[in-house]
Amino acid sequence: MSPAEGQRRDAFPPGFLWGAATAAYQIEGAPAEDGKGRSIWDTFSHQPGRTAHGDTGDIACDDYHRVGEDIALVAGLNAGAYRFSISWPRIQPDGRGSANPAGLAHYSRLVDTLLERGITPMVTLYHWDLPQALQDKGGWAARDSAELFADYAGIVAGALGDRVDRWITINEPWVIANMGYRWGQHAPGIRDEGHAVATTHHLLLAHGRAAAAVRAATPAGTGAARTQVGITLNMTHVYPADPASAGDRELAADIDAEINGVFLSPLIDGSYPARLGAGHVPGPQIVRDGDFATIQAPIDFLGVNYYFPHVVAIREDGIFRRGDTPMGRGFAVFVRPDRLPVTAMDWIVQPDGLYDLLIRLRDDAPGLPLYITENGAAGHDYVNPDGTIEDTERIDYLRGHLRAAHRALTAGTDLRGYFAWSLMDNFEWAHGYSQRFGLIFVDYGTQRRIPKRSAGWFADVAGNNSIPAD
Ligand code: FCB
Repeated sequence: MSPAEGQRRDAFPPGFLWGAATAAYQIEGAPAEDGKGRSIWDTFSHQPGRTAHGDTGDIACDDYHRVGEDIALVAGLNAGAYRFSISWPRIQPDGRGSANPAGLAHYSRLVDTLLERGITPMVTLYHWDLPQALQDKGGWAARDSAELFADYAGIVAGALGDRVDRWITINEPWVIANMGYRWGQHAPGIRDEGHAVATTHHLLLAHGRAAAAVRAATPAGTGAARTQVGITLNMTHVYPADPASAGDRELAADIDAEINGVFLSPLIDGSYPARLGAGHVPGPQIVRDGDFATIQAPIDFLGVNYYFPHVVAIREDGIFRRGDTPMGRGFAVFVRPDRLPVTAMDWIVQPDGLYDLLIRLRDDAPGLPLYITENGAAGHDYVNPDGTIEDTERIDYLRGHLRAAHRALTAGTDLRGYFAWSLMDNFEWAHGYSQRFGLIFVDYGTQRRIPKRSAGWFADVAGNNSIPAD
């Protein structure tokens, strides 16, 4: 082995897809341009007290006007793929009816720009920006939204399916149902258990119908032979704080069902997990005959967003204290083990959680190809006087998680690609601009983009298909 070879480790399989991810509302700005309708995030972010500092996505990274520049940044990462989302209200301003040609033309140009640079588009059809007009009719708690989503998916696949072959129907349905409809920290800001449970089921149904619509719109001979459709779930691994405690173990299993199983089981097994409690399992008034057949139709891959694991302890005395979370059959304390670092989001850094999760998917969903569609860390990034951004914690985070992913590959996981969250700093939902996840720094005042040290590190990984030594 030459010295140069010796300095690298963990080679990934040939064809492994490296990319970066973004979402429309988080980067685009241009909230009312070219006929775009309002989304629930346009509404929500403008309501007092909903986001940090009252931040909105009105300008964000102004990516709508800077597509060429931003795709050049993707290319600079040596990325083979770019995961972005399409804003439904740009395509159908009111969420139904005929398509807005200017909206389709925007994404068509984006796809062409990627392809000119040899970058594979990975399209997310829904990353949280529901047309406000549909929320006015009940949003995802209304069953009709699933049907309308399939119409929209068919329109987009009809327009782009000759050039796009990888489709993600929905991003993180758990976050939509729970943060959006149960706890109200995200748009549409509803706090209603019934809405949350209905939303859970309707999102699964919307996924199944949209997947069929995408396939139908990419006829055999063009995209169909290679069309791949999947869904992206936010997944975690849940550990009992004290493995010897039966209470902690039971709680961990409950929370695993509430976060992971509630979406994974219907997709894989065609039913909700038996463990789900009453406030989480959709009842017979929501689930109709035939729904599970739609939901369970085979997907071509599963997208996994992983950031951190949960370590949970049961509140034995049953008395709720500030900071406790009512999850599972009891009050959960989310423990932050002393030995683990945390990111600027206060999320613990534990790459073994990714390894354990991937092994669990290898065993629970055999034969299902996986992509890590998001993974990354927020940091307190700043520009040094010499213009550099030394985000070494982010590099440590990425290195640790890529090594964990590589170990899982070696252990037989069918992992096909990895997308860093995020291409650039952006509007981090309720946290506004206070949290920076980018490989590329955005100076929001000037819209100048500055690659952080992690961007160079990632470009090295992607370009060599392996992880450099420390
Ligand atoms: C995920 C979201 C993504 C981003 C990251 C940090 O839950 O899908 O848009 O906010 O978290």
